[in-house]
Amino acid sequence: MSKSLNLFVPALGFTALGLGLAYGLSSRQYGAQTIETLETRVQQVEATAASTSAEAQAAAAEAARLMSERDALQQIAADAANTAGSLTAPAPVIDGTYELGRAALEEELAAWDVDVLPDGRGLPEGRGDVWTGEEVFVEKCATCHGDFAEGVGNWPVLAGGFDTLADKDPVKTVGSYWPHLSTAWDYINRSMPFGEAGTLTPDETYAIVAYILYSNDLVDDDFELSHENFTDVEMYNSDGFVVDDRPELEYAEWRAEPCMANCKETVEITMRATFLDVTPEGGGDSVMNHATTGDGPVFSASDDAAVATTSEDAGGPDPALVAAGEGAFRQCKSCHQVGEGASNRTGPALNGMVGRTIGSVDGFRYSNVFQEANAAGEVWTAENLAAFLADPRGTMPGTKMTFRGVREEADITALIAYLESFEE
Ligand code: HEC
Ligand code: HEC
Repeated sequence: MSKSLNLFVPALGFTALGLGLAYGLSSRQYGAQTIETLETRVQQVEATAASTSAEAQAAAAEAARLMSERDALQQIAADAANTAGSLTAPAPVIDGTYELGRAALEEELAAWDVDVLPDGRGLPEGRGDVWTGEEVFVEKCATCHGDFAEGVGNWPVLAGGFDTLADKDPVKTVGSYWPHLSTAWDYINRSMPFGEAGTLTPDETYAIVAYILYSNDLVDDDFELSHENFTDVEMYNSDGFVVDDRPELEYAEWRAEPCMANCKETVEITMRATFLDVTPEGGGDSVMNHATTGDGPVFSASDDAAVATTSEDAGGPDPALVAAGEGAFRQCKSCHQVGEGASNRTGPALNGMVGRTIGSVDGFRYSNVFQEANAAGEVWTAENLAAFLADPRGTMPGTKMTFRGVREEADITALIAYLESFEE
């Protein structure tokens, strides 16, 4: 979470201050509001700064910066008030400094003003229940965060980890660690799905947050979250943060005489996030990045899929289609492997699927509906596979494949071409 907080603060600071500065000149009232919001933010930053010492230090510095900018803004608001009413009054000094830009419009401010505060300020109207949340989550988030918010690979776990905060290796999740529900709403709304930020509707975000609460045993499965009951939710760790008093107690001393002795001679970067595999490459695997086969991004064949693109002889699958299918297969990868060395995961390995008896992969424990189809000798064809992929739970009621289905027909065609390129 600290990562996200560090991320919020500069963005918020920029928004409120950059635009606020410009706007404050013509509207004192806005200036006052901005000051109030800023003060709340300063408090928030202080309140959440206690996580780890390095990050706390950065946050403390941030809080101090915000405070000094708030003071500057207060001054500007006061100046603007003094000169208000007289168009010929000299503009404040700052106006002539860069001779750039114009005052931000109300609409522009509104578009930036998306932050949600712990007391619920900033929340749009809307609602969503746990079950809707599960559907949206499985479709848009599960590839990276797991069906049950348990996390895939190194990507963040969003549920569980209770009673681990005092451990050497604590599991910090939305459930175990985050003190305010507003942070979850705000973070998801402004930055997820990874690579597709800003695409969720308010109702979807409410539903997803309800589902994450459910995954953390904080609410029952019939729970509906809305702007009305939002602040009723009590987070496990709501008392787990203390207000950071270092800005008052220590910061002044640090500043008085910065220590510049015995500094390290060189600083070396020893690791980068991409190597640690904590951030997806190329803007993310989001399902929505691969929504169409026509003009959608085509990803270069990875090693295990290289086989697919080599079939150039007439009659073989169209390489472009196979490549598109490989892209669309990203939404399946959290559960299925395909290609040489593929093994069963949450779902069975998918080699040689077309033409194969349903539910016949060795060593995989299928649901009853799959076992029945298998006993009846039913075989996967391009047609019934397309129907299944479009609506797994509709065509195979009771299937263990918790997947909403592929929306675009073109994606289904491409997926089947891709699967067909792998022999048994
Ligand atoms: C393509 C992969 C991907 C998808 C899809 C995705 N996320 Fe994330 N998510 C990430 C990564 C990577 C991070 C860590 C980002 C960071 O720390 O900068 C993250 C972080 C988060 C966090 C913060 C976790 C923490 O403890 O810091 C939440 C909450 C979250 N995602 C929710 C969602 C939701 C809800 C969706 C679906 C609407 C979603 N994500 C879709 C990759 C993804
Ligand atoms: C959340 C995990 C999950 C996701 C995501 C998922 N599947 Fe599945 N899939 C399964 C499971 C589990 C089964 C076994 C179904 C059963 O036993 O009811 C399965 C079964 C199948 C089968 C039938 C296998 C057989 O042996 O008969 C095919 C084909 C298939 N999935 C393709 C796909 C494709 C293509 C995608 C992506 C568009 C996908 N799946 C996404 C979990 C998943």
